[in-house]
Amino acid sequence: MVIIGNWKMNKTASETKEFITDFEKLYKTEKSKIGKDVKFAIGAPFVNLFAFQKSSIPACAQNVSEFSAGAYTGDTSISMLQDLGVKYVIVGHSERRQYHYETDEQVNNKAKKIIENGLTPVVCVGETLDEYENGSTKEVVLDQIKASLRDLDLEKIIVAYEPIWAIGTGKVATPEIAEEVCKFIRQNTSRDLVIQYGGSVNPNNIAELSSQPNINGFLVGGASLKANDFLKLLTLGK
Ligand code: PGA
Repeated sequence: MVIIGNWKMNKTASETKEFITDFEKLYKTEKSKIGKDVKFAIGAPFVNLFAFQKSSIPACAQNVSEFSAGAYTGDTSISMLQDLGVKYVIVGHSERRQYHYETDEQVNNKAKKIIENGLTPVVCVGETLDEYENGSTKEVVLDQIKASLRDLDLEKIIVAYEPIWAIGTGKVATPEIAEEVCKFIRQNTSRDLVIQYGGSVNPNNIAELSSQPNINGFLVGGASLKANDFLKLLTLGK
């Protein structure tokens, strides 16, 4: 079970510090309630990743450049993240695909770079509301996994299934829908692949979702922004 908070473009440096202080306090008393196989991380904006260095919270980046170094103004390289001790990198989040036109090919290149540098990519896939409603979810997801996961070592990655209609909408996929698509991803990849579900996960629905056999973790946006909610997710995810 791998539970990763995706803060998106939220929290200043001082708010990040505050979260870490609150988390550390609660973590002392709650740690024993967190399952032994539960791993976790927070996906913070680049400028705040350094704040996690001396904390109990492993850091996750929300993106990385597909290039190693050089004249790419505004970008962040994998070696910069590696040097900061970052453990995971989210790639191909639907917001990056939508607002920054990221393609499956770029996602695939980024994931390769991340693996080569010893970090773990969290490759996001998922269908739009239209695609869901016209019944093409599996077709869309299959196309995305085929292209985004091309030639990747599936033991070194995480795939996050995030139906776009469930992201930030409060409209969580039912455990049955989430399980069906995660199972489909497993059937088309590898038995041992770590598959996360994402989209409106919160402390009230995580237990039921995590009892599904093909869901091995979660990518959580809104509910990861408060230390006590995030800790609740960690204690409830089994
Ligand atoms: P949400 O976001 O939990 O706020 O729906 C999930 C995500 O986009 O990763």
